[in-house]
Amino acid sequence: MTDAERALWRLLRDRSLQRAKFRRQVPIGRYVADFLCYEARLILEVDGSHHGDERAPIDAERTVWLESQGFRVLRFWNSDVLLARDAVLTAVLSALESAPVLASGIDPPHPAATPPPSPARGEGETHPTLGLYVHWPFCKAKCPYCDFNSHVRESVDQGRWRAALLAELEHYARQAGRRRLPSIFFGGGPPSLMPPATVAALIERARQLFAFDPAIEITLEANPTSAEAGAFAGFAAAGVNRLSLGVQALDDASLAFLGRQHSAAEALAAVALARRAVPRLSFDLIYARPGQTPAAWAAELARALEEGTEHLSLYQLTLEENTVFHARARRGELALPPEATQAALYEATQETLGRLGLPAYEISNHARPGAESRHNLVYWRYGDYLGIGPGAHGRLTLANATPQGEKLALSQHRAPEVWLERVEREGHATRTRQVLAPEERLRECLLMGLRLAEGVPLARVAAESGRPLADWIAPARLSAALEACYLTLDEARVAATAEGRQRLDALLKHLLA
Ligand SMILES: C[S@@+](CC[C@H](N)C(=O)[O-])C[C@H]1O[C@@H](n2cnc3c(N)ncnc32)[C@H](O)[C@@H]1O
Ligand code: SF4
Repeated sequence: MTDAERALWRLLRDRSLQRAKFRRQVPIGRYVADFLCYEARLILEVDGSHHGDERAPIDAERTVWLESQGFRVLRFWNSDVLLARDAVLTAVLSALESAPVLASGIDPPHPAATPPPSPARGEGETHPTLGLYVHWPFCKAKCPYCDFNSHVRESVDQGRWRAALLAELEHYARQAGRRRLPSIFFGGGPPSLMPPATVAALIERARQLFAFDPAIEITLEANPTSAEAGAFAGFAAAGVNRLSLGVQALDDASLAFLGRQHSAAEALAAVALARRAVPRLSFDLIYARPGQTPAAWAAELARALEEGTEHLSLYQLTLEENTVFHARARRGELALPPEATQAALYEATQETLGRLGLPAYEISNHARPGAESRHNLVYWRYGDYLGIGPGAHGRLTLANATPQGEKLALSQHRAPEVWLERVEREGHATRTRQVLAPEERLRECLLMGLRLAEGVPLARVAAESGRPLADWIAPARLSAALEACYLTLDEARVAATAEGRQRLDALLKHLLA
């Protein structure tokens, strides 16, 4: 640390700045910010000297990029920090006052997430980029809580499935055109049961059909059984660079309760293998399990982080209709923890992971800054994506008559056999292909974007729906949400607070009534 950086660090401990938590040397995309306050999306940088500063052109480029990601960047010269302490303090305080979250007078209980590098698109642009989702619909056994489109079959004709997935990919690529591809996501029940050769063939075909982003993220969901872990190296060789493991719990009793096919030791061994196989790793855990205490959950989270993961998806157990758990709950054989315990478990999640450097950037997703799931960000930022495979969904904006382009909502047949038969007959298994009306685009854009701590740029709302946000929401409804501290709004962005994100459906119903 230079003298000036040390002086700035000391200054940030000033009492008047105590509500704003700054961290040092935080990686954001391809840069490392000198000092970052998540809540206020404010970066402070310290530069060499007024004279002959070699970093100047790089810094300009760096500032432009960071600002394009939704940060405000304040740059100070070494000499200012050392000699003009009061001026620096005033500048930082005034930037904090005009920052979106702090400006509303809400002191968020937990750091909001850093807006991560945006592979999706620039704000307000149409949709030059595209995410690709591939759904694999087969599981070894159906978990008792899961209502996902996943099915158990005695055998799967791998050759037919591979050919059909490739055919549907080609069909949709013809509709989308040759766009830039920032991410591919293999999801489902789980795709670690796919032969690596099928994954390799799909990645290769996508490489021919689209322009791969140099930093393309290719994620594959995997169950952490020893058999599936054996294929991790094969997936990595196919081009997968991120694994998302369904660990679900770190003790055997909970895993047995959740009906999982692996023990805790097996899951941890799979995590270790995954870490060696690919550069990026995430895992899923389910909490609010019967009898779980906040202290035990906090310890489990801390244990999870010891495995070195940069990203965690944490889901509160829900009783989905048509699942075994739902039926057991109806018979009185299973009960979720009371609401107060669920709230305490949520609080423990936010507190533990905020403290350990993985704040929530989305309702259920936590990441170290820069390690957010780029693919899921495409959905939440309401970018375009293609979904291929049974039940997969897509959103595709066509450059045509309307100023914002027509946006299509696409979905495929859900039943695996119907899907396969349709693709073999027609080259695709499209079940719905619907042009979205402006109000529907507004609703979806908010529904997705307000899940994110960074919120939604107002320019995006206008670009999607053709009208500014103020035209869509009655002023009294907006003020009520702002006063209740469920929402923040400034000249550039609307965002849900942590409290607002917890009741997002009700909040949107209120706003768009
Ligand atoms: C649909 S699954 C697919 C992932 C993969 N097949 C697996 O089992 O690991 C995605 C994640 O959603 C979560 N999930 C599914 N059903 C859930 C439920 N009823 N309550 C809470 N989380 C659930 C699990 O954490 C799971 O890993
Ligand atoms: S949680 Fe995953 S493995 Fe379990 S049934 Fe659902 S998709 Fe299959």
